[in-house]
Amino acid sequence: MIPLSVPNINGNEWKYVKDCLDTGWISAVGSYVDKFEQTMAAYTGAKYAVAVANGTCALHLSCLLMNIQQGDGVIVPDITFIASVNSIKQCGAEPILMDVNEHNNLKIIEDATEALGSTYKNKHAGTIGDIGCLSFNGNKIISTGGGGVILTNNKEIAKLAKHLSTQAKTSPEEYIHDANGFNYRMVNILAAIGMAQMEQLPSFLHKKKDIAEQYHKKLNGVGDIQFIETEKNVVPNNWLFTIRTKKRKALFQHLKNSGVQSRPLWQPMHMLAIHSKHLFVTKNNISSILYNDCLSIPCSTDLKIKDQSIVIRKVVEFFST
Ligand SMILES: Cc1ncc(COP(=O)(O)O)c(C=O)c1O
Repeated sequence: MIPLSVPNINGNEWKYVKDCLDTGWISAVGSYVDKFEQTMAAYTGAKYAVAVANGTCALHLSCLLMNIQQGDGVIVPDITFIASVNSIKQCGAEPILMDVNEHNNLKIIEDATEALGSTYKNKHAGTIGDIGCLSFNGNKIISTGGGGVILTNNKEIAKLAKHLSTQAKTSPEEYIHDANGFNYRMVNILAAIGMAQMEQLPSFLHKKKDIAEQYHKKLNGVGDIQFIETEKNVVPNNWLFTIRTKKRKALFQHLKNSGVQSRPLWQPMHMLAIHSKHLFVTKNNISSILYNDCLSIPCSTDLKIKDQSIVIRKVVEFFST
């Protein structure tokens, strides 16, 4: 099976993890966590970066840091990963599902979990709103296995994020806690992997761009395939390569039968039974159209040229029979 998007562990990961194991610094405190946070802040241009256990808890903590609570309405994209909506509900607030391409002028938590390496008007994704969240799970452009970061330019928010993510403990020695905290901190051993992955990010971005360019070249004009256009002023990280076709379901099956992994978009939140009662703001139900039409195809950073050729051949074959 040619996988969709898998981790690429070819740098200093073993060396840095061995260092954690040799020194015994494997848990929630250690120099790699500090270095990873500094590296993330420097790379994205955010003043502060707080490393946490995953993107989902970055989103949950961000909602708490923005003081979202019972009785609040929070606008969230209808087509997104479910963690964004669940985080709002876990604060007791009410999600308002917004269809694609609508606009608001409010406090913003950016779910930039997939966007490491992407910029808008030269600002890194996750540094445009009040808080930004990144994820490093197995399918992201860099992976720590599981991990996340909260980005912010606000010193108080960064301080509180660190405090709440480490059980809101006020003293290094005594078990004194001053708030309802969480065990959401990234552990040193995963930050060590993150440091090694960050060293390879430029080459990963380069490879993702090459893969996208090759798909554009070879699939242009094939069947009814359309590409997702890059918005003006955006430099994308090309994390996933997604095509649009009215034959999405049949193409998925054909690729599966051919040993090629592909994935549809998330089912829009308004279509999920557990979130269908929330207000859904839409003119043209674009999220459902995208859900029906979109399919992501293999684009791992270690995708071999011969494997990408197989994917292309299988897609072309589908549309010519
Ligand atoms: C858009 C979006 N939001 C949130 C998440 C959650 O991140 P994590 O898997 O690190 O908890 C993901 C990743 O799966 C995502 O793609």
